[in-house]
Amino acid sequence: MVKICCIGAGYVGGPTMAVIALKCPSIQVAVVDISVARINAWNSDTLPIYEPGLDDVVKQCRGKNLSFSTDVEKHVSEADIVFVSVNTPTKTQGLGAGKAADLTYWESAARMIADVAKSNKIVVEKSTVPVKTAEAIEKILTHNSKGVEFQILSNPEFLAEGTAISDLFNPDRVLIGGRETPGGKKAIETLRDVYAQWVPMDRIICTNLWSAELSKLAANAFLAQRISSVNSMSALCEATGADVSQVSHAVGKDTRIGPKFLNASVGFGGSCFQKDILNLVYICECNGLPEVANYWKQVIKVNDYQKTRFVNRIVSSMFNTVSGKKIAVLGFAFKKDTGDTRETPAIDVCKGLIGDKAKLSIYDPQVHQDQIQRDLSMKKFDWDHPVHLQPMSPTSVTDVSVVWDAYTATKDAHGLCILTEWDEFKKLDYQKIFDNMQKPAFVFDGRNVVDVEKLRKIGFIVYSIGKPLDEWLKDMPAVA
Ligand code: NAD
Ligand code: UDX
Repeated sequence: MVKICCIGAGYVGGPTMAVIALKCPSIQVAVVDISVARINAWNSDTLPIYEPGLDDVVKQCRGKNLSFSTDVEKHVSEADIVFVSVNTPTKTQGLGAGKAADLTYWESAARMIADVAKSNKIVVEKSTVPVKTAEAIEKILTHNSKGVEFQILSNPEFLAEGTAISDLFNPDRVLIGGRETPGGKKAIETLRDVYAQWVPMDRIICTNLWSAELSKLAANAFLAQRISSVNSMSALCEATGADVSQVSHAVGKDTRIGPKFLNASVGFGGSCFQKDILNLVYICECNGLPEVANYWKQVIKVNDYQKTRFVNRIVSSMFNTVSGKKIAVLGFAFKKDTGDTRETPAIDVCKGLIGDKAKLSIYDPQVHQDQIQRDLSMKKFDWDHPVHLQPMSPTSVTDVSVVWDAYTATKDAHGLCILTEWDEFKKLDYQKIFDNMQKPAFVFDGRNVVDVEKLRKIGFIVYSIGKPLDEWLKDMPAVA
């Protein structure tokens, strides 16, 4: 029986391994992590991450061919294939700080593998890493090997949170990169045979190591670039009276462009896009390609501009001050159907409003109060470290309350912002919300989820990203 061990029981390691276990009953899969709390949660009825469909998959396999453990060394030493799916955060200090990937956790995992391995192993990069990481890992493994052989593969993950299970069941492609040597080719075949148990062969792409590593960074950069493109258009729409949804629809009908990933928003978030683009920028700079680096940097700049623009719009619409005013924030997760808040635009928007002395009342169906408090008090990039190493919030942020329904959040509020596109926000009783808010009552929709005309008829002053402006807002000073 083939044995797989995955180091890192996070958003990628957990769901990916659960699906491999489900689709390959003849493979024994162990997911290991240094965080005791996380492993305990994987072994409980309340999994550590919220992901539609995940509970079912885990329940079907756990205790059969899927296990979660903190005994990292035992499971690594027994495995034939070791996936490494640990954090690869942005460096916060030293060379490349604020851009380069911090490979501390990856390197320590590699050293541990070399230390405990007593049989040959295929080591698979599942984490997103800079191009050429496999070369460094290969050196660490071979220089520390105790007579065993290692083959390194790059097998980046393309799942998106909120749809992870369906993405894993039915991936657009699986990418496997390896050395073009007989040993490398054999390792590629071994991993390909695992995926081939449920993924059609024509969707399994095999490349060299560097193409696989770079394709992951490139795919995320292309996706994020589409969002910054449509978001830049949203600013122009507001200035001209065009409607960004109509523009996206018309543009996306061109089959060469396609309709997906053209929704204007308050900005993209999540643990990947910004981190991976910064990493790409750093690699370009290190390779003497400043023009290419600047091109991709602009994707992040437009994203930051979009978040700042949103905050400025709120403040300028509300008579240039939100000081002491209650603002309801609906949605804190970086997208719907996840409880993940890593790099969510809500952090920057809330910090911007707190900076202007607003009193926030936040509601998200999947995000707890302690997480929100931690996010609002943590420094940039500090979030992306193993859970048990993340700083505890030293003090809670005052003027922020977290509540458990949208009606409580909006009661007596002067303004309401929608920062995550949860389906339930489309179905709220906005008449009831309006009746219980201060007047004039403002809605700032950062996700284009509300029916603007309907809300205006109720009496709200409505701002929705990239939509023709309310008469009220047209009179306000231009925002930058
Ligand atoms: P995560 O923080 O949820 O999980 C990483 C886990 O690794 C943590 O639980 C941590 O405790 C553990 N860990 C760190 N060092 C360890 C060690 N030495 N030994 C054992 N466990 C260790 O992160 P994630 O979201 O799963 O992302 C993991 C990697 O996958 C990153 O490189 C990320 O860029 C990439 N990725 C993420 C996504 C996504 O949607 N989240 C998608 C594709 C790729
Ligand atoms: C992304 C990639 O999609 C995935 O392939 C990769 O493996 C990890 O990074 P994820 O970050 O989980 O996945 O979610 P995604 O659906 O890509 O959304 C990222 C951000 O962009 C979210 O904040 C989302 O709200 C925003 N977004 C997405 C938009 O603002 N507009 C869109 O049209 C699409």
